[in-house]
Amino acid sequence: MSQTSDPGMTITTRRMSFEESLRDVPRHFAGDGDLVSSHIIAALSSVFPDGEDYFVRSVRHFRDQITDPVLKRQVAGFIGQESVHGREHRALNEHLDTLGYPTKRFERITKAGLALRWKTLSAKSNLALTAALEHFTATMAELVMTDEEIRHALGHDAVRNIFVWHALEESEHKAVAFDVYRAVGGTERMRVFTMKVARFGFVLGTMAELLVSLAMDPATYKRGALRESLRRVRGTSIVSRALWDQLREYDRPGFHPNDRDTSALVAQWREELFGTEGTLNAQLAGSAA
Ligand SMILES: [Fe+2]
Ligand SMILES: [Fe+2]
Repeated sequence: MSQTSDPGMTITTRRMSFEESLRDVPRHFAGDGDLVSSHIIAALSSVFPDGEDYFVRSVRHFRDQITDPVLKRQVAGFIGQESVHGREHRALNEHLDTLGYPTKRFERITKAGLALRWKTLSAKSNLALTAALEHFTATMAELVMTDEEIRHALGHDAVRNIFVWHALEESEHKAVAFDVYRAVGGTERMRVFTMKVARFGFVLGTMAELLVSLAMDPATYKRGALRESLRRVRGTSIVSRALWDQLREYDRPGFHPNDRDTSALVAQWREELFGTEGTLNAQLAGSAA
């Protein structure tokens, strides 16, 4: 059996730098100054850097067991992309911290939680979690790339640019951790079980972070502000049934990330961001395939 199902996908490590553009990101940067969306995006960004480190560690652990040359190359691309994501989200989190978000505190909690999991569970189980969380990021990436309203909700240009670039690369490498998991003999049983726990943990964890983050913001206590903002967020596809169903597709026996063909979407956004007229070419310091 081939170890990878999409030999055509080239995974390029793009060395991006958004740091300078982050300087003028305001406190409520999302949408048109939306309170809850700003806190959701900040909470998500908080878990990325240490999450990405963990993804890299769990895939790198099995790197020597990969014999398929295509998958080997894709693993190198995956590690490169996730490392740059971690670095750029850390820069965003630093800035959000100066604005009063508890992003650095959430980073530390994420780091400690994942370090504990790494120490107490098998490397294969950690890889299963990485594959499961990669389905989360791929699902959110597809949403960002297809839904104009969600892109608007990301707000300030610098924040939107980071998330759109991240979305493109999550889509490009969405099958890599999964293919490594299969290649090293990860079972279907562990894969699906891990996802069920992850889904529960992710939703609960994000909700808890969101509550803490909102509680620390004086704007939350302005009369009617929270209710109004929640009403706006409820109307977007980030809380839709369709998104939840897409997350649950992962539980189907025999599921593979490339069952959803997003190659046209990837091609479209590669052109949009990094083509001849690419909107992010100025932030690109270099790249390696
Ligand atoms: Fe990433
Ligand atoms: Fe990823």
